[in-house]
Amino acid sequence: MEKHSNRFDAALRGEKTDRTPIWFMRQAGRYLPEYREVRKKLSFDEMLADADVATEITLQPIRRFDLDAAVIFADIMTILNGLEIPFNFASGGPALEFHSSDEPDRSKLDAKRLLANRNKFEPFLKAIRQVRSALPQEKSVIGFAASPFTLLSYLLEGTTSKTHNKTRAYMLTHAAEFHSMMSAVADCTIEYLKLQVDSGASAVQLFESWGDVLSPETYEMKILPHVERIVNAISPHAPVILYDKGASLHIDVLRPFARRTNAMLSVDWRINIASLSDIRVQGNLDPAALEGSAESVRLETSRILHARSGIAGHVFNLGHGITPQANLACVEAMVETVQNFRT
Ligand code: CP3
Repeated sequence: MEKHSNRFDAALRGEKTDRTPIWFMRQAGRYLPEYREVRKKLSFDEMLADADVATEITLQPIRRFDLDAAVIFADIMTILNGLEIPFNFASGGPALEFHSSDEPDRSKLDAKRLLANRNKFEPFLKAIRQVRSALPQEKSVIGFAASPFTLLSYLLEGTTSKTHNKTRAYMLTHAAEFHSMMSAVADCTIEYLKLQVDSGASAVQLFESWGDVLSPETYEMKILPHVERIVNAISPHAPVILYDKGASLHIDVLRPFARRTNAMLSVDWRINIASLSDIRVQGNLDPAALEGSAESVRLETSRILHARSGIAGHVFNLGHGITPQANLACVEAMVETVQNFRT
């Protein structure tokens, strides 16, 4: 097999690569001692506000593991800066500062407002430019945004919810308003992702982190059309990956979506990746494996590599973000197994 100058980009185009490219969700984060060192001195909000810190944190996992792509250190909430919706992480997770669950402020979800406020995305966009120029061309830079349902859940719940009951109730009782808010969030997301691509992101990922609370039918009828509009708007500029934590549940609607859009699907760990040979795929390793033994990580990683061996369009990743409790020896075992495997 020809050696690819950028195997991650090639895999996103659906091509076979000399070996499977690897990065992982939340790779720039708390499982890394060098991240915790910086975090001791700065709050998460302070880290996000400083382009040099964001650049450094983004590069940490690349230096340690020689991964194929860097995901910019930011958060799915960062888009709210451009919409003048205040939030913070003071309690450990995201929290909106002004929040009324009955009457969400629909007027703020405005793509024109976001573009007028684009200077609020510095330092994020500056970090993208800096990371791009710090890395050789064979490494990719990944931008990202929440998928509209996942962002809307934060807007309706005010914080991370386990059940997303308010959001689900709102979707059912205010169907027209829900649709129009989803549409407005999708418009904002398109502009936000374009800014990232213009700054140097060579691919983008949508995070549907709370997709697993929705049925396949609901996902297909109420969510996917908005996701697809984003994918179709961004694809001419950069390839798109859709992560859905409910991919295993929604596969019958996501498979045709991935086929018609050429988006790469990032799947959770509750599905057999061997059944997905007709679409571009990323993910599947259970993040819990990284809290166990290096030996079992090697076995699980090999199982996934073998299941996809010889099939084009594969990126190695986890089924969800790495946890702060992950063992470094397990992460090393995963990365080495992928980097030494030849299809
Ligand atoms: O390495 C990377 O992936 C890059 C940066 C990144 C962060 N958040 C940094 C972060 C990315 C891509 C995200 C996305 C994100 N943020 C998602 C989607 C991914 C997923 O796991 O499903 C979600 C749901 C959020 C919202 C969020 N941010 C939560 C719920 C929390 C608190 C709990 C947690 O998982 O950490 C955060 C905080 C956050 N975002 C941290 C980091 C490194 C931890 C901050 C700290 O040091 O305290």
